[in-house]
Amino acid sequence: MTTEPTSHRPEKAAIGPEGIRHPIEFLFADHDRLRVVCAALERLANDCTAEDAQENAAFALSYLESELPLHIADEEQDLFPLLKRRCAPDDEIDTILALLNDEHEADQEYQLRLLEPLRSIAAGAQPADTVEFGHAARAFSVFQRRHLAWENGTVLPLARKRLTAADQADMGRRMADRRRSPVAG
Ligand SMILES: [Fe+2]
Ligand SMILES: [Fe+2]
Repeated sequence: MTTEPTSHRPEKAAIGPEGIRHPIEFLFADHDRLRVVCAALERLANDCTAEDAQENAAFALSYLESELPLHIADEEQDLFPLLKRRCAPDDEIDTILALLNDEHEADQEYQLRLLEPLRSIAAGAQPADTVEFGHAARAFSVFQRRHLAWENGTVLPLARKRLTAADQADMGRRMADRRRSPVAG
């Protein structure tokens, strides 16, 4: 069971005119917020009538609808291709990335199970099936923590080692573009 508080929510990093200056750190920060989303979902799974249920549901909903698709695109379209290009055979990155790609597809199935109940809770109502919602919310949290362990423990540290400064600058510009932020020259 998580010990992460749901009241502390790491802020999104500001995006400067030159793009995202530290894209790998930006991805770590996304992961920090996803951990808080997992804690919020587990709290809702235990009691979706709690005093902070509406607030937690709105927070989780916003992350799942708005941030997670961008985050997955950052990884699949920018980070993973760069890693494939830069990593040595000994890094065995292909196996890890294939696993993570498969798991990103599973995220979409969880979205389908979670979004509607979260909309209900955020609106002050109850999910149509609280038991099914509880199962889905707990399963999503367990699944995400395992995914994050691979990414934080292996993939992002490898990116820090293998990606060049030019790779990271390019990735930061593309990630900023994806968020429709102004990008220099
Ligand atoms: Fe990630
Ligand atoms: Fe991922």
